[in-house]
Amino acid sequence: MLENVEKFISGFAKSLHEETFIKLTLGNYKGSDEHLQKILVRLVDTKKGKRLFFLYRYDTRDTAKNYDFNEGIKILRHTLGTEFMAGHLFTTSNDFQLDIGKKGKSRLNTAKPTFKLKPTTSHDREKRRFVQQDSFYLQALGITTDAGEVRDKQQDKWKQINKFVETLGRFFENSLLANRKELKIVDMGCGKGYLTFATYDYFKNILGLDVKVIGVDTKSELVGLCNDIAKTCEFNGLQFVNGWIGDYDLQDTDILIALHACNTATDDAIYKGIKANADLIVVAPCCHQEIRPQIKSPEMLSGILRHGVMMERMAETITDGLRSLLLEKSGYSTKLFEFIATEHTPKNNMLVGTKLEKKSAAVETAAQIAEIKEFYGIKEQRLETLLNS
Ligand SMILES: C[S@@+](CC[C@H](N)C(=O)[O-])C[C@H]1O[C@@H](n2cnc3c(N)ncnc32)[C@H](O)[C@@H]1O
Repeated sequence: MLENVEKFISGFAKSLHEETFIKLTLGNYKGSDEHLQKILVRLVDTKKGKRLFFLYRYDTRDTAKNYDFNEGIKILRHTLGTEFMAGHLFTTSNDFQLDIGKKGKSRLNTAKPTFKLKPTTSHDREKRRFVQQDSFYLQALGITTDAGEVRDKQQDKWKQINKFVETLGRFFENSLLANRKELKIVDMGCGKGYLTFATYDYFKNILGLDVKVIGVDTKSELVGLCNDIAKTCEFNGLQFVNGWIGDYDLQDTDILIALHACNTATDDAIYKGIKANADLIVVAPCCHQEIRPQIKSPEMLSGILRHGVMMERMAETITDGLRSLLLEKSGYSTKLFEFIATEHTPKNNMLVGTKLEKKSAAVETAAQIAEIKEFYGIKEQRLETLLNS
């Protein structure tokens, strides 16, 4: 080990020990990874105590991992002088700049500290991540490779999960649930559980809440696999249940979610959420098949709705619009928007219902719903039927 490299690493270890460490950059990468450019290291508070937050900067993306101090020092020892030929250490005592030349010659400059005060050690100062890419469950479910890269074929799913959890997180922060320490969340039509795992991981491991998450699906093989993976990950509050949404006995639930539960399964899910008094209902519907065959094009719109694609969009608009009104009628404020670009999924409507402390005028909303149904000749809408039963 070169003397200057050893001095640099000792300076790093000392700054951690004496709590003068601010940040570290490893650069001038000469290793075998053609995409890796540098590593940025700073302190982060975790439930296990202070850790080193390593941000790996690649040419087109970043990845991050936390290490304990000994592991972090080991990484430096392993990579400085073999892969990274430069290091810049900032402490409240001094700055240290290490440069290693081609023939192993090195130079270590010590300068006055750029930073005299320690930064706060919080994830909040980082670009907040909602889904942790290095989580084991993403590998086990086939979203990421063993190296933690998102598989090419899973990019769209990955983006959907991220956007869904991010949106859910934002609505949670602005809801009556925001200060809660315990939460129960149910994911209806959870499929392979991508969103269910990510939701659990976010609320449990990123927000640190005491959370119970349940995924419900009819596909028993997926339910079994998901339970196995949850066990492996020691996600003790995560459970998958085999069954139909309509049959599931949903009680004491704070948040109900459903991503692309097919056709009227979304209505079943919303209905269950309303009945369970969920504070937040967040759904991204798909396959809007119920309304389309019922629509009788109003004379005024016949020139437009004779085109299949227009009818398709209209059926989708009316279906989700009616769901939104029915949620409002049931005491929720609603937001209906595109949660992700169409290139990642054409089924990108998201409907969010936030329970109101005080109900709004249900009579007016009911009249509006009736008027819309009459205008389009719609006889039945599943959510309405369930709510009226
Ligand atoms: C398109 S997949 C979406 C899966 C998952 N939410 C996701 O986005 O990755 C729809 C899932 O809903 C399930 N499903 C559809 N109708 C259901 C019902 N009535 N009860 C329970 N599961 C249902 C299907 O088995 C399927 O796994």
